[in-house]
Amino acid sequence: MIENPLFGPLLAEGKTKLIYAFKADPDLAYMVNKDQITAGDGVRRNELPGKSRWSTITTANVFRLLNEEELATHFVDQINDVVLLVRRCTMLPIEQVMRRIATGSYLKRFPEISEGTRFEPALVETFFKDDARHDPQIWEEDILKMGLATKDEIEWMAAQGRRVFETLERAWASIDVTLVDLKIEFGRDTQGNLLVADVIDNDSWRLWPGGDKTRMLDKQVYRNLKDVTQQDLQQVADRYALVADLTGKLKLE
Ligand SMILES: Nc1ncnc2c1ncn2[C@@H]1O[C@H](COP(=O)(O)OP(=O)(O)OP(=O)(O)O)[C@@H](O)[C@H]1O
Ligand SMILES: [Mg+2]
Repeated sequence: MIENPLFGPLLAEGKTKLIYAFKADPDLAYMVNKDQITAGDGVRRNELPGKSRWSTITTANVFRLLNEEELATHFVDQINDVVLLVRRCTMLPIEQVMRRIATGSYLKRFPEISEGTRFEPALVETFFKDDARHDPQIWEEDILKMGLATKDEIEWMAAQGRRVFETLERAWASIDVTLVDLKIEFGRDTQGNLLVADVIDNDSWRLWPGGDKTRMLDKQVYRNLKDVTQQDLQQVADRYALVADLTGKLKLE
């Protein structure tokens, strides 16, 4: 794959994917997914054969829906089982989280809020990507101070994040799965336009079939493991495969 003559130089490599330049067009890039699953800022890490394929299918299906809704994303096309063609971006070092239901790390930060509390509209939170500091939460004034985005752009990203969330929430609801929360990332294309970039896959959200937390399908299953046995990994893999499959059925009425 790395021998592919259309691939230019390696632009970035992270825990779960590689980004290559696209020789024929400097505005585009290839995203190659890896069979890696990680948690706890990379402290826990396992190979999960098939994950690159499920992640690619899930991301492609999700971004196709978003593009149909005319949301600005980096997604161009799915090339093969593990490769996507995207708009080449300079990424913002932030993660934006949208929450409909209070759970997980939110409850640790706000112990007075009980699990299951609903946010209307969806709550939007921003975290600075820094594994060593465990991705601290940041606010508008921090983003402005760091020169990452303007005030208008920060507002636009919050609004865009809510639209992304509401679109996917509606799509999952059509097959009776609750989208609990969702993490997205933004990049700037070669023209400087902000786009929803990176992946939206089973690592990015919480999915509770029928609204039932005990039936969760997403990466939380992996985060919750005590030790990671081969049998546990198989159960995680089965859920990733199922979610990839389900994203092929998502529709916007
Ligand atoms: N459209 C894009 N153009 C350029 N780079 C991108 C694009 N989409 C995602 N990337 C970048 O690809 C790199 C590899 O992603 P990966 O998620 O594997 O990294 P990571 O180890 O999780 O580190 P990070 O904390 O930056 O996400 C990241 O730096 C990510 O921001
Ligand atoms: Mg990442």
